[in-house]
Amino acid sequence: MDFRRFLEPRPLTAVFAVFAGVAGALVGLHPDAPHPFFQSAGTVGYALAAVVSLACWAAFARPAFASRARKTLIVFHLVFIPSQFLFLLAHDVAWPGMALSTLLTVALRPRFPRLGRFGRRVWVTLHVGISVGWLGLSLAMLTLAIIGATTGDHAIRHGAYEIMHAFNIAIVIPSVFLAIITGAVVSLGTPWGLVKHWWVLLKLVIALSLPVLATFESTWIERLAAGTADPAFEPGGTGVLLAIFMGLFLALLWTATVLSVFKPGGRTPWERRKSKGPKGIPVTVTAVRAEADRVAALELAGAGPLPAWEPGAHIDLVLPSGRVRQYSLCGDPSAPAYRIAVLHEPDGRGGSAEVHSLKEGAAVAIRGPRNHFRLVDAPSYLFVAGGIGIAPFVPMVAALERRGADWRLVYRGQSPAAMAFARSLTAAYPDRVVLSPADASPRPDLEALLRAAPPRTAVYCCGPASMLAAVEALMPTACPHGRLHVERFAARERETGPDTPFEAELRASRTVVRVPADRTLLAALQDVDPTLDFSCEDGVCGSCETRVLDGVPDHRDDILSGEDRARRDVIYPCVSRARGSRIVLDL
Ligand code: FES
Repeated sequence: MDFRRFLEPRPLTAVFAVFAGVAGALVGLHPDAPHPFFQSAGTVGYALAAVVSLACWAAFARPAFASRARKTLIVFHLVFIPSQFLFLLAHDVAWPGMALSTLLTVALRPRFPRLGRFGRRVWVTLHVGISVGWLGLSLAMLTLAIIGATTGDHAIRHGAYEIMHAFNIAIVIPSVFLAIITGAVVSLGTPWGLVKHWWVLLKLVIALSLPVLATFESTWIERLAAGTADPAFEPGGTGVLLAIFMGLFLALLWTATVLSVFKPGGRTPWERRKSKGPKGIPVTVTAVRAEADRVAALELAGAGPLPAWEPGAHIDLVLPSGRVRQYSLCGDPSAPAYRIAVLHEPDGRGGSAEVHSLKEGAAVAIRGPRNHFRLVDAPSYLFVAGGIGIAPFVPMVAALERRGADWRLVYRGQSPAAMAFARSLTAAYPDRVVLSPADASPRPDLEALLRAAPPRTAVYCCGPASMLAAVEALMPTACPHGRLHVERFAARERETGPDTPFEAELRASRTVVRVPADRTLLAALQDVDPTLDFSCEDGVCGSCETRVLDGVPDHRDDILSGEDRARRDVIYPCVSRARGSRIVLDL
């Protein structure tokens, strides 16, 4: 007999329906919940679970409803798993309930749509707000637990445990529930995932262990609050244990906070094994130099010659942790080694910090180079750089100077010491480079600069989003005769049409992939080819570039600009989709 078929969603759903019916009855008959609410919630919750499970079990048998049943069950159990932590206060039957719910959710193989930028912000705000509130409350609970365990005054002792009891029911338990839900949504709705990165996985373990601790401390708080009504009652060992648990609770919450901020550990081994396409070319860091405050310049050399590149190109740098980051090449295209300049961003996701920790001799890998920021032919060039956005312009202006082209560079930074390459650029091109350190000079008058640009000037801009937005907004009026080229550090807010389902035909592999409205083209393609190259998943880096053979791409990336957005020969499937019902790809 093949027992694996019992792990299929339909039989598991039937098992869960029966279990939920029995669990609801057990909770309903159990008289010892700390508050009638938990007993009622458990009874109603399991009754609802039984009804939903039975309905979905029946729907699984009808192909037209099977997909809807699967989605319904996924959503239901994602809410129901943390809900059962509440039911634990009424009956221990919630333990096997959570295990069964988790098993069923895994069997349903959930896939989560990525949150949009606005949605991500809303959920992150909720998660941070709830977690911070929980952290503060835990400190208050620890203080009360210490007071209760140490005071000799009966009234204060009883009051401390009564307040803890009220806090526990009114705030701690809902906070546990909401923090887990919002954390799961943020993780699953973003590239972080739940088990892809060590720091997220550790946070998940902490998040799931806290409710377990909470069930112990809830019982103790309840017992102490009731017992200390009697002036002769002493908290004894239970009071001490409660204070220790509250301290542990607080320590775990702080650990989760530190993990969220520092994001240590990189990707998990299984995520690394899954890999993102080609591993890249192994290279060695042959030199590390401080280029400016918080900016390190690294030389990267391979065992053999590295691929040729042109000014404006960037590479993917695959770090030892598995993180992949994009950096513009800022050296000499004829040199045997690549050079990149990396700004240390303490509030970033850890990539720049890891780059800054690399020493000479460190082994990394590169992918690319790719170039979406090429020098076009133009009678004159205006470069507008902000901060580390100067990097791609270093080889670009050198190439233009060799050609004898007419160019000008305006470079804005925090201070001369923080502006990478400022000294070498002004020394080499004193008449063409204008430095604008914020600590000594006002913001450059971008409008005047653009108005003064000769006809058909190629305007290149790379820097913070606010600078790019300002130049983009000014171009139509101040420089309508010029053409703007931008290189972004991160995706901008996009106005897109509705996501509709379509089909992608992979011509080379003779496969047709259906792309539902709630999945990206890249995610659908990875189902049939997990080795596809990608990195940012935000339409910025260009790693996922794919050739289009037929059909019309709906470009939503931040790589193609101007008339290139009408191109029909290329698509960035991490964000872009098809116009119409079908697109044919060279895969
Ligand atoms: S993965 Fe970066 S553009 Fe698609």
